[in-house]
Amino acid sequence: MTMHNNTAQLDAAARAALLARMRERPTDIDASPRRSYDTSFETLPGYDELLLVRATGDALGIANPFFRPHEGRAGALTRIDGREVINFASYDYLGLNSHPQVQRAAQEAIELYGTSVSASRLVAGERPLHRALEARLASLHRAEDAIVFVSGHAANVTTLGTILGAEDAVFHDALIHNSIIVGAELARAARRSFPHNDLDALERMLTTERQRYRRALIVVEGLYSMDGDVPDLARLVELKQRFGGWLMVDEAHGIGVLGAGGRGVAEHAGLDPACVDIWMGTLSKSLASCGGYIAGQQALIDYLKVSAPGFVYSVGLPPAAAGAALAALDAMEREGERVAALQANARHFLEAAQAAGLATGTAEGHAIVPIMVGDSLMAVLLSERLLARGVNVLPIIHPAVPHRSARLRFFLTAAHTAEQLDETVRLLVEEIDESSRSLAALGFGGEEDGEEAGATPASEWRK
Ligand SMILES: Cc1ncc(COP(=O)(O)O)c(C=O)c1O
Repeated sequence: MTMHNNTAQLDAAARAALLARMRERPTDIDASPRRSYDTSFETLPGYDELLLVRATGDALGIANPFFRPHEGRAGALTRIDGREVINFASYDYLGLNSHPQVQRAAQEAIELYGTSVSASRLVAGERPLHRALEARLASLHRAEDAIVFVSGHAANVTTLGTILGAEDAVFHDALIHNSIIVGAELARAARRSFPHNDLDALERMLTTERQRYRRALIVVEGLYSMDGDVPDLARLVELKQRFGGWLMVDEAHGIGVLGAGGRGVAEHAGLDPACVDIWMGTLSKSLASCGGYIAGQQALIDYLKVSAPGFVYSVGLPPAAAGAALAALDAMEREGERVAALQANARHFLEAAQAAGLATGTAEGHAIVPIMVGDSLMAVLLSERLLARGVNVLPIIHPAVPHRSARLRFFLTAAHTAEQLDETVRLLVEEIDESSRSLAALGFGGEEDGEEAGATPASEWRK
């Protein structure tokens, strides 16, 4: 008999003994009817709010603006319900999702390696495309190395969960992406949120609290995705150096958008990217692919490659996604006019909106421009009416933003034309007036609680 069979026999015997003991043991489990346990999905937190929102939309005859199907590639234009409309709901900032070389690179990668790598790179091996992409991303940030994950969200969650622990703290902007919050919670690190872009508040927080923790991680975004503004990177670097911490910048919306070469907030600020300890980015926006990455010092990348569960226990990036991202990086570098066109379009739209008297919050003219309307119902109604007039833009409403900060969020791309932008501002002005009148006629006051549109976002809204 082999060793293996012996072990199996022992296991079976041990299991049988355990079962027998359990059957004899007087049960201390409550045998009362099962209905005392909550087995309903409808009692999950927030489910009743979801029903309420649906019922309100139905009562007012407003269709759900989310999950709108696009019947083709969504760029500056898209097709919805059989009609071509101007589109402001795509992160394809540089228009690379329809670039022939990016598409060809994805197809060639599939021909060479298939549609999937089927397993974790650690156990099943990688493809040359993986390391080529990581080298390119590292060079984008002038970092020593990079690691690519199958999702941007997962990159943040697993990185924070891996490098931080209960004795550490995360100091983050109040508008930081959900994936940072989830990562900090996974790490069981203390979490301190400072008001959006208020670095005086961060400094006060670090002064009183830094010494309580072993490691301190300051996390900001290169370009904030709800408001379209950027942090003061130079001051953040000074703070992290003075208080002894790591600085992490999430460049999901900065790459392709900020800086003359689209290299992100460091280029925008004229700083050496080495001043940031952890660069994070996604492949899903300007780079027309799917996945996320971390770039930084060799020790950090080596550590994540053997320790981060979201890398070690998760499949490698599909060949098509790696090939597309590599080709998109090439195109971004080679065709600098795309970055310039995006930047000109964003400035044009911001200036036209402001000249028309629209509230643009703290937007600075970098690809993301919110039009603040305050009231959630107004934002949803406006989105529907604009679609009817040939413009697709999505409302951002509570709980994604605080009450009274509902907005229409415009993502500009390199492929929009000045005419499309001017026409959109004209329609916006008309429809804001029209929608206010419709809501007033239905007995809705417009602004919730009578507060001004464009109210400062409350802290902690994205949790
Ligand atoms: C700031 C920020 N970080 C991370 C992510 C997650 O990236 P992905 O959608 O590629 O998973 C997003 C996505 O919207 C984001 O906006």
